[in-house]
Amino acid sequence: MQLIRDNVIFAGAIDWDRRMFDELIPLPDGTSYNCYIIKGSEKTALIDTVDPTKTDILIAKLVRMGVSKLDYIIALHAEQDHSGSIPDMLTLYPDAKVVTNPKCKQMLIDLLDVEEEQFITVEDGETLSLGDKTLKFVYTPWVHWPETMSSYLQEDNILFSCDFFGSHLATSDLFVKDEPQVYEAAKRYYAEIMMPFRNPIKKNLEKIAGLEIDIIAPSHGPVYDRPEFIIDAYKDWVSDNVKNEVVIPYVSMHESTGLMVEYFTDALIDRGITVKEFNLTETDIGKLALSLVDAATIVIGSPTVLTGPHPAAAYAAILANALRPKTKFISVIGSYGWAGKMVDQLSSMLGNLRAEIIEPVVIKGKPKQPDIELLEELADKIAAKHKELGIM
Ligand code: FEO
Repeated sequence: MQLIRDNVIFAGAIDWDRRMFDELIPLPDGTSYNCYIIKGSEKTALIDTVDPTKTDILIAKLVRMGVSKLDYIIALHAEQDHSGSIPDMLTLYPDAKVVTNPKCKQMLIDLLDVEEEQFITVEDGETLSLGDKTLKFVYTPWVHWPETMSSYLQEDNILFSCDFFGSHLATSDLFVKDEPQVYEAAKRYYAEIMMPFRNPIKKNLEKIAGLEIDIIAPSHGPVYDRPEFIIDAYKDWVSDNVKNEVVIPYVSMHESTGLMVEYFTDALIDRGITVKEFNLTETDIGKLALSLVDAATIVIGSPTVLTGPHPAAAYAAILANALRPKTKFISVIGSYGWAGKMVDQLSSMLGNLRAEIIEPVVIKGKPKQPDIELLEELADKIAAKHKELGIM
């Protein structure tokens, strides 16, 4: 048994093999679906469940733990990787009640056909007694759906945060052992699903600051027994601070845009700027998302295809627009054969970014000396903007 504290037990499933989430997000290190059994002196609660593909693992663990009666199934979030086994849990424990907030209740009815009478709803700040243990519910919306909430075990100072503070990482470590590894995985996770909600997350961080927290038990990845490690990382990511970095997602068909990216990268490096270059035909988009968390500038590189941007460049623009990074400056570099509206179309895809557009460099054919000078000028402008921000 994996004990977090007396009578607080990890009951989740590690998914070592999963490589995609939502058919969008790469999972290079797998993931886990964490759930927790809390045995109070009078009642027993299960916090969240697991992805439906791993229900058998959860059931086997509950049998091994001797959980013959379950009073409450706490649903912190309706997404199926945590709620998907609720119907099976209700079959196994027909007297159990699903405890959640009204928004999550409606989602569980819509998504999983859970019957109305099987719920108990709780308001923000409400408590639920298990006898000698008490759960307090803390609404933490938009991490990353509107109904998401956390639960705080008062006697043990444990915050069950669901996706908030999570990391897609399959590991046999119950608690974080390798902080740099978990930092990278948690930052990637933040980038992929939390980053669009920077402002609500700031409010949620303020809200949990009033709790005395010894342990954060998220729904993915290892448990934090040094909670300040992940709380401080989140504070940095949601802050307005950016780094002296330029992210260049690009694609090239006949090497003209590729050569431009090569010259441009060197020009930025010469000016003391960190460059993160991503060839979109090969890159792991999770790494691209991660790089957007704190880069000051994005420059998209694209050839012109059928008068517009290459579809791979359009995909990167749509992704960046959806993730809403705190990027301050954006630009485009690329090449065309005869004519096109590549820049206009890419710009229209980036409307969510509150970033200043720096004059793009779009050239005809292969880059020649005057074109290289234009790229040098663009690098100068970016360096000057970064200096104005005081980040170089
Ligand atoms: Fe891990 Fe939003 O579910």
